[in-house]
Formats: sequence, structure tokens, C-alpha cells
Amino acid sequence: MSLLPQLKDPANKRYEVPLETPQSRSKASSPLYSVQFSADPFGLVILRTSSGHVLLNTTVAPLFYADQFLQLSTSLPSRFISGLGEHLTSLILNVTWTKITMWNRDMSPTHCLYATVYFADVILQPSPALTWRTTGGILDFYVFLGPDPKSVVRQYMDVIGYPFMPPYWALGFHLCRWGYTSTAVTREVVKNMTTAQFPLDVQWNDLDYADAKRDFTFNKDGFWDMPEMVNDFHREGRRYVMIVDAGISSSSPAGSYKPFDEGLKRGVFILNATGQPLIGKVWPGPTAFPDFTNPETHQWWHDMVKDFHEQVPFDGMWIDMNEPSNFVEGSVEGCPNNKLEAPPYVPGVIGGSLRTRTLCASSKQYLSSHYNLHSLYGLTEAIASHDALVKVRGKRPFVISRSTFASHGRYAGHWTGDVLSTWEQLYYTIPAVLLFNIYGVPLVGADVCGFVGDTSEELCVRWTQLGAFYPFMRNHNDRRNLPQEPYVFSEMAQQAMRKALFLRYSLLPYLYTLFHKAHSSGETVARPLYLEFPEDPNTWNVDQQFMWGSGLLITPVLEAGKTEVSGYFPLGMWYNPLTGSIINSKGQWILISAPLDTINIHVRAGHILPLQKPAFTTTESRKNGMSLVVALTPEGIAQGDLFWDDGEDLFTFEKGDYMQILFLARNGMLVNEIVQLNGQVDGLLLKDIMVFGVPSPPHQVLANGIPISDFSYHTDTKILNIPLSLLMGEQFVITWS
Ligand code: NOJ
Repeated sequence: MSLLPQLKDPANKRYEVPLETPQSRSKASSPLYSVQFSADPFGLVILRTSSGHVLLNTTVAPLFYADQFLQLSTSLPSRFISGLGEHLTSLILNVTWTKITMWNRDMSPTHCLYATVYFADVILQPSPALTWRTTGGILDFYVFLGPDPKSVVRQYMDVIGYPFMPPYWALGFHLCRWGYTSTAVTREVVKNMTTAQFPLDVQWNDLDYADAKRDFTFNKDGFWDMPEMVNDFHREGRRYVMIVDAGISSSSPAGSYKPFDEGLKRGVFILNATGQPLIGKVWPGPTAFPDFTNPETHQWWHDMVKDFHEQVPFDGMWIDMNEPSNFVEGSVEGCPNNKLEAPPYVPGVIGGSLRTRTLCASSKQYLSSHYNLHSLYGLTEAIASHDALVKVRGKRPFVISRSTFASHGRYAGHWTGDVLSTWEQLYYTIPAVLLFNIYGVPLVGADVCGFVGDTSEELCVRWTQLGAFYPFMRNHNDRRNLPQEPYVFSEMAQQAMRKALFLRYSLLPYLYTLFHKAHSSGETVARPLYLEFPEDPNTWNVDQQFMWGSGLLITPVLEAGKTEVSGYFPLGMWYNPLTGSIINSKGQWILISAPLDTINIHVRAGHILPLQKPAFTTTESRKNGMSLVVALTPEGIAQGDLFWDDGEDLFTFEKGDYMQILFLARNGMLVNEIVQLNGQVDGLLLKDIMVFGVPSPPHQVLANGIPISDFSYHTDTKILNIPLSLLMGEQFVITWS
């Protein structure tokens, strides 16, 4: 349930964010809120009817409504404030005079970052209260009533759109670095991964592949056999992704570089004050910037993607530098002097000016000025790339973008940019990943082992363990650093990393099912504890641990030299599926052992997780036997489910071309219920079941009435292991007594 107050100028049309959102046509019949208007001081007050809590009260300070300065303040019902775009902070923000600026920027994580969900300054105040300041447009608020935090997230996604369903391979391990200078080097990396027995699904290249760093080209020196390399990766069951920058090189001789020549002809670039394409500078030198708010630009982008794909059959696009980033201020010719370039109020952007490291604010786009559209650049490029890939490949698209805006998750994923290889930033990646899940961008991760600066072996091990639980897992490294591929480390470190990677691969069916729920019902994949345990205030600011769905708790080590970690365990039973140890928590902090080769994970009692035997690629692992981890409550109950489809076809869910199975355990019996069964199971087998929390040794185990003689029961851990060989797509009943 949501409520949408809007403050606009009735006489003049003003800029509005060009996102289509659902429109309500009538008043809600039994709202959870009541609204009171006040004329003096002007404002509105929104109350939650059930508790009488004031959710919004804008009468606490005057409203400003000028052409380029809008300000509104409200009191807040709580000091637990989370959200407001991408920033290097804890999950819960400090309300003691914290200013958060939202204006997308190419900035290594310090504070105002690559991704926003709005654009404005927000000032948090200790009373608690907040003040919104923005540089134009209208004030359009959505108030989501929940009542619980999960419903708030879903209601937000009801407005901005549910996340896209990633291909299965997107959930495997990705490897990249700036500095794989040739196909020979890139092939060597893949070979080393294979020799060292690490899983690898997706190999990437950074700018090295491109001819003079220009999009949609490959250099014929080091990368002369790039098409064959990609074909070879495909033959090994792997995928390939390369970087594509936003800026299009504008200085090649006329007739020699199609993306620019065509783009010019078709009028796709952002224009300067004189109506010429605005020229900035990025990696290839002088560049023009496609205006993705223009429908013609989408067509042109599609044509460029198609041309390049005909040469190099890549599988996904990594769209970078799309804040958009610019190495000169505004443009190579500077910017005009006007009210958009020098607004009366400048949000707290680094550099003090809207054009610092980006384009002139007054440059012109199809829909409006860059001033209005700046932070939508990445989103609009992501939409164009998503659509182009759908048409060109005819399969589920994979796009990872640095810049984002509200609704990005419908089209693409995100990585958190140039994080430093430090322990401090290792921690900050958790709140970042959790926030993006709440923003409806579940396919998110940080560069594993860090991007800027040399990593250390221990940091890289711990980062690989945490990264194994980022919904999107890619190890990526800067040019100048020491290498950080898993195989460059000591045998001990490699073993620890291998263990983490295989753990991730075993859990992929569970992870994929969570992505399906995000896609089909607006859920999060990686989620903060407070979404699951909103009634337990101890969980509210936990951001060194997190959950996958509602069934798995992850407790990584985030500090150097530690072999123990303290974690919060909400009330209930928690099973460690790797060691069999059980935590029966009263809702308390517990110190647990975490040697270097261990990341602690705990299955929450009451949940059933589908697993699969890991392999070196998901192409292989998808054929392997499956297992179920059944974590019983003390009452002997658990449930879970599996979503499965071909892993890369478009709209399988929408077309009904998938399999969905529910699993239910109670009273010494496990049954499945096949909700949907369409073609995709192809002999997939259920090979074993691990039941946690079986109080006493069973005498007999039956699968569909047939005795299973080789089950085993461990009295100390109370785990029952049942080896099986049942078709996943067939109904079964398993009993133990
Ligand atoms: C900036 C990106 O954030 C980084 O990941 C990439 O390696 C460099 N650009 C070079 O393309």
C-alpha cells in the first residue's frame, strides 16, 4: 500500500523524471494511513492509522519551491534510516547531520558514488528528521506503508519494476582484470584456472581488447584471434563479456570508425550550446556521448552491438564510465555560462560544480537538458544495451553497469566500481550489496580482492569467501597491481578459495530460485537481517552478516589475522551444513570459529535448500545430481522450493516454460509438490537428502515405500543422510521413523 503526494506548479509544465510508474485511479478503500493538510504552516502530515505514528510531517520547516531550488523537510518516525543511493557507509545511516548527495559520479568509493536512486541532497538530522533539496523539477513522493520492511521493498519495486531474470551462468564465477593484454594472455588465464581446478564460468576483458580503446573494435595485434578465443571459451562451456565505455571516440579519420560516423549521421549524440555534438575526453581521447534518451540512439546502439557481435560472439556487456565520466570539465571547449551551469544552489558534489568529471549541465539531450537527465545516463544506456542483446542474441541479456538510477534492476546488474583492496572496504561492500538488493538490483557485487592497490593473500582469501556470497561474483583488478587470480596464491590460500567457490557452486540452485522470486514477486536475494527479523531490534543495524533469502545466514571474517568471528543469531536453531554443528540461539551474539579456510554459513531451521554437486562451469554443474538440505524446527517442520528452467531462454517464467517444486517436511516425512513441470528437468536426479535436527536414530527410511538401507544417522549432530536416486520431476514421499 502506498501513498503519493505530489507538489507541482499548476501553471507551468516542469521537468519530471521520465519513468513510467503505475498510476492509481481511485482512492484506496481501507488505507493504512490518514493524511492531514495544514495551510499555515503549509504542509502535510501522514499518520499510520494502526499506531498513530507520524510517518511524514512537512510542517516542521518551510517548504521552498523556486525554479532551481526545492526544499522540503520532515520529521522521521525512527533513527534507523537506510537507503539513499550508493555511498560508502554502514547499512544504517548516521542521522547526526549527515549529508548525502545524489549526482552520479566517477569516483572511487569515498562518499558520493556512481549510482543514485534520485538526485538531490538529503540532510539527515538527529531529531530525527530529514531535509530534501533538489535543483528543479517537481516534488513527487511515494510513501510505502508496508507494514513490514519486506512489504515496503516490494511496494517500492511495484513502482520501479521487478528485477530481470539473469541467465544461470551469470551466477557462476567471473574473472577479469585490466591488463590481460592479448588473447594469448587471456587464454593463459583460463588455462591456469583449469589447471589449478577452479570453477570459472565467465572470462572478461577490459579495454585491452579494443583498438585504440574504441568501442565495438578489437585490436588486430594482441587480439587478432578474439573471435576464435570466444568460440573456444564457448566450446568449453564458458561465456565471454567485454567492456563497453559510454564515450564514442570522435577523432578517427572520417569514414574509418563506423560507430562515430553513423552516430553523427543519425544524430545520436548529446549536443552542446551551438548544436554540435559535445566533445569530452575519456580513454580513447576525444569522445562524443550517445544520448540514450533518444529512440534513434537505441536503434543505432543495437546496430553497433549487432555488427560487433557478428565478429565476436560475446555473451554480455560490461557498461562502464557511464555517469557519464569525462576527464575534462564539461567538454573540451568548457561550458557556457548560464543558469543550469551555475545554479543558485549546487548540491554537495565533489569538485563543487555539476560538471566536474562529467558533461556540461546545459548540454542538450532529446528529452531535456543534461542538468535534468544527468543521473539517468547509466539507466538509459543499460536499457539500450539490454534491448540490443535481447534482439542480437535472442537469449536472456547480461548487462553490468557502473551507473544506475531507480528501476535499473529491470534491465541490468551493478558492480560497485573501483573499491580499494583494504579490509575496511571489504566490509563496506556488504552494506553496498544489501542496499542494491533493496533498490531492486539484486545482481550486484564488488570487485573480489579489491580493484585499487595490491591485495594481500589473506585479504584475497577472505574476500573470495565473502564474494562467494555476492549475488554477482567477479574478481577484477587494476592494471598496475600485483595479480590476484586465485591460482597466484599459496596452495593453502588456493584451497581456501576453491572451497569457497565450490560452496557457491553447490548453492546455485538455491540462489537461482531466489533470483526467480526477485523477478516474479519483488523479493531481495542478498538481504539484511532486519528484513527477516524486523521484530528483533538487535538485527536492525547488523551489516557484517547478511542472508540469502530467508533460509541462509552468512557470517564472513572481515578483519586481518582473525580465526574467530562474532555473529548475531536471531532466536531459533541454526545449522552449519558443512560441519553439522548447531546453534540454538536465544537471539544473541555468538563467537564462532573461522579458520582461514572457512566462511561460516548457517541454515535457518524451518527451511529446505536445493543444492547441486558443483563443477568447473555451470554448463556442467547443471547436469549434476541435486541434494536437499532439510533444516527441521524443533517441531520437525521445514519447507523450501526450487525454480528451474533452461537457464537462458527469454521469458521462461512468463511462458510457463519452467519447473517449480515445493518441498515440505513434517512428522518424519518429506514430500514434494510439483507446481509446474515443463520440459526442463531432463533426467535431473535427486541424489541425497541431509535432514538436520532428527532427534533420535530412525530404524527405517523409505523412499516411495521402498526401504533405503544405506542411510546413516549421526547421534552427535542429529543429522540423517539419505542417499537416493529419484527423478527431480517426479512426485516423491520419503519417510523416516
Ligand atoms: C573504470 C572501471 O571502474 C574499472 O573497473 C575498469 O577497469 C577501468 N575503468 C578501465 O576500463
